Amino acid sequence: MTQEWIHFAFRLFHLIAGIMWIGTSFYFVWMDGSFVPSARRADPEGGGPGGTDDGVEGELHMVHGGFFYRVEKRRPMEMPKLLHWFKYESLLTFISGFFLMGLVYWSGGALALMDLTRDHLTQAQAIGVSVGCLVVCWVVYDLVWLLVGRRAPILALCLTLTGLVGAIYGLCQVFPGRAAFIHVGAMLGTIMVANVWIRILPNQRRMIAASLEGQDPDWARGLAAKHRSMHNSYMTIPVLMMMVTNHFSFVFEHPLNWVLLCGLCVVGASVRHLMITLERGQPATWAIGPLVVALVAIVALTRPEARAVDGTPPVAFAEVNQIFQRRCTPCHSSTPTDDVFKAAPGGLTFDSSEHITSLASRIRLRVVEARTMPFANKTGMTDEEREIVRRWVDQGARP
Ligand code: HEC
Repeated sequence: MTQEWIHFAFRLFHLIAGIMWIGTSFYFVWMDGSFVPSARRADPEGGGPGGTDDGVEGELHMVHGGFFYRVEKRRPMEMPKLLHWFKYESLLTFISGFFLMGLVYWSGGALALMDLTRDHLTQAQAIGVSVGCLVVCWVVYDLVWLLVGRRAPILALCLTLTGLVGAIYGLCQVFPGRAAFIHVGAMLGTIMVANVWIRILPNQRRMIAASLEGQDPDWARGLAAKHRSMHNSYMTIPVLMMMVTNHFSFVFEHPLNWVLLCGLCVVGASVRHLMITLERGQPATWAIGPLVVALVAIVALTRPEARAVDGTPPVAFAEVNQIFQRRCTPCHSSTPTDDVFKAAPGGLTFDSSEHITSLASRIRLRVVEARTMPFANKTGMTDEEREIVRRWVDQGARP
C-alpha cells in the first residue's frame, strides 16, 4: 500500500510539474508570435529611429482576472533585481519522471519491462536498456545537431528522424508495448530537459553577460538556443501522447505498435506546427498533409477488423467477463469475499467493464505471460480460460 501511495504522489507531482513546464513554454511561444511594435516606437519623441534606443522590440497587452497586463519584449539592458528563468519546471518534471520510471519499471523485478513470452532479456539487461536509451539518445541527438546541424540542418533533421524511428522500432521489439511507448516518451523528455539545461540556459547566460558588459552579444548563440527551443516545442505533444496512450492497450499492444507510435509523433508534431502558425496568424501550411495521412493510417490500422489476430474467432466481453467474475473478483472487487484479502489488492477492481478494459495489458502480463494471477491460482483458473483472456486482449480488449 505504501508503494502505491508513493507512486500516486510521484505521478501527481510529475503531472503538475509537467503542466507548469509545458504551460510556460506554450505561453512564451504564443507571446513571441503576438508582439506588436511598441507604441513608443511610433512616437518620434519616444526614442531613436524606431524607438529601439531603450531596447524594446515589441509589446503586448492582455487582460486576465480583471487586470490589464503590458509585456515588453526587449534586449537585455540592465540586470533587474529579480529575473525569472523558468528552468526548475523542466528539472522537476524530469526528476519526478525518473523516479516514476524506477517505481513502475525497474522495481518489482522489472516485470513490466520483460516480455516473458519472448523471454530474451534478463532483468539486469532490461534495466540496462531502459537506462541506457535515455543517455544514448541525448548524446546522439546533441552530437548530430552540434556537428551536422550548423552546416546542413536538413541532413541533421533526416538523421534525427531516422534515429527516432529506429529507436521506436527497436524498443517495441525488446520491450512490451506499454514500456516501449513510455520509454520513447522518456527519451524525448530527456532530450528536452537536456536542451534546456545544457544548451539553452548557458547560451542565454553568456548572451546576457555580454550585453551587460556592453559587448555585442554573439547572436549565433541566441539562434542555437532558439533552435533547441523549437525542437522542444515540436516534441511536447508527441511526449504527451505517449503518456496518455499508455492507458490504451489497443494502441500499444497492437502488432504494428511501432508504426502507430511513429504516426502519433507525426500527428503531435503537425498539431504543434498548426498551433504555432495559427497563433502567428499565418495560413495553416504543409502540416495539414502529414496530419491527415497519419490520422487516416492510425484509424485504418486500429479498426477492429484489422485486429483479427491469428484468425481466432472474436471473444465476446460477456464470455471473458464471466471468467473474471469467477476467478478474480473474489479478491479484486470493492467487496472481496476472499478469506485473506479484505481489500482489493493493488487497488485493482474488476467490477465494471471500464475497469477491466483499462487494465487489459496488466491482466495479460499477469494471467497469460507470467501466469502469476490468480494469486497462487487460488480460484483454480484453467489453461483454456487463460487462452480466452489472451485472445480477448490481443483482439483489442473491447468491452
Ligand atoms: C486470492 C486473491 C487474488 C485473486 C483471486 C486474484 N488476484 Fe490479482 N492480485 C492479488 C494480489 C495479492 C496482488 C498484489 C501482489 C502482486 O502483484 O502479486 C494482485 C495483483 C494483481 C495485478 C497486478 C497489479 C499491478 O500493479 O499491476 C494484476 C494485473 C492482477 N492481480 C490481476 C488478476 C486477475 C486478472 C485475476 C483473475 C484472473 C486475479 N488477479 C486474481 C490477489 C489476487
